[in-house]
Amino acid sequence: MKNVLVIYYSQTGQAKLALDAVLRPFEENQNYHVHRVLIQPKIAFPFPWSYTQFFDVFPETVQGIPCELHPLEIDLSMQYDLIFIAYQPWFLSVCVPISSFLQLPQTKKLLEGKPVVTVINCRNMWLGAQEKMKKHLNALNAKLVGNITFVDHSSNLISLITVLAFVLNGKKEKFMGIFPKYGVTQKDVDRAPEYGKIIMRHFEKGDLENIQPTLNASGGLNIRGNLLLMEGRGRVLFPLYANYISKKGTQGSAQRKTRVRIFGIVLPTAILILSPIITIISRLAPILARKKFKNEIAYYSQNSLRG
Ligand SMILES: Cc1cc2nc3c(=O)[nH]c(=O)nc-3n(C[C@H](O)[C@H](O)[C@H](O)COP(=O)(O)O)c2cc1C
Repeated sequence: MKNVLVIYYSQTGQAKLALDAVLRPFEENQNYHVHRVLIQPKIAFPFPWSYTQFFDVFPETVQGIPCELHPLEIDLSMQYDLIFIAYQPWFLSVCVPISSFLQLPQTKKLLEGKPVVTVINCRNMWLGAQEKMKKHLNALNAKLVGNITFVDHSSNLISLITVLAFVLNGKKEKFMGIFPKYGVTQKDVDRAPEYGKIIMRHFEKGDLENIQPTLNASGGLNIRGNLLLMEGRGRVLFPLYANYISKKGTQGSAQRKTRVRIFGIVLPTAILILSPIITIISRLAPILARKKFKNEIAYYSQNSLRG
């Protein structure tokens, strides 16, 4: 019997939907025992979020400041053979509940020396969050062997509108007759058990090195080349904005509200203005800087950290 530990967080069930489908082959196979642990912050994050609440979590998320969690229901003496971590990027970083889990003292005991597969669910930008995930896992001496991503397939501007309608109003279905349903598609969910089978097959052969290439070949990883540049800018600027806000006060404090509100206007405006420009530049990048562009895509398609 092989023991599989699944650590996950899901606010509205999007991440869980995708994760459930990936795990199906493990749960249907009697040789595996799947132990799931939902990470629960002591103070739950709201859903839908108010505009201020949404942007107020930005500094601590980017700075990786943990929140308090309910005690984990895990037997720490259990030796797990394979670990899944399912999470969402928040502001190009690992969402606070999962980053808090990764910083618990007992997490090292659970993850040390263990193969880990991450399952990401997001709008479309996960590269920066996964770099932070890689750093956490390296520090815990865990081995990242696979990454599966579920993204929204609409264009960046459309999904900016639909994600905001979703997180701020809870509106996931089509609206105003023009905007598509936000989030993971049924088609992607239907394909997901195949990713689980790939992981199982490689795990049973002891061929962990080739999990990722096989996942990539079967469409398990979504990298939007045209967003590389935009996300890169965000990853440089976000820590600066985060410091600017957190200098004024801690999460929820009245003193920093003005700065939070400014950020709440600046960020969507910047995306709206920059998105078309960066998209044009990004379309030229594969032509003008072909080698660099190819290297970047190759880098994010594998699981080690840049040296
Ligand atoms: C505070 C917050 C920040 C987010 N930041 C990002 C982001 O940086 N990149 C991205 O692609 N999606 C981002 N999203 C979208 C979520 O990753 C997405 O809505 C996810 O599907 C939510 O899954 P869940 O409902 O299972 O928690 C963000 C959502 C929230 C609530």
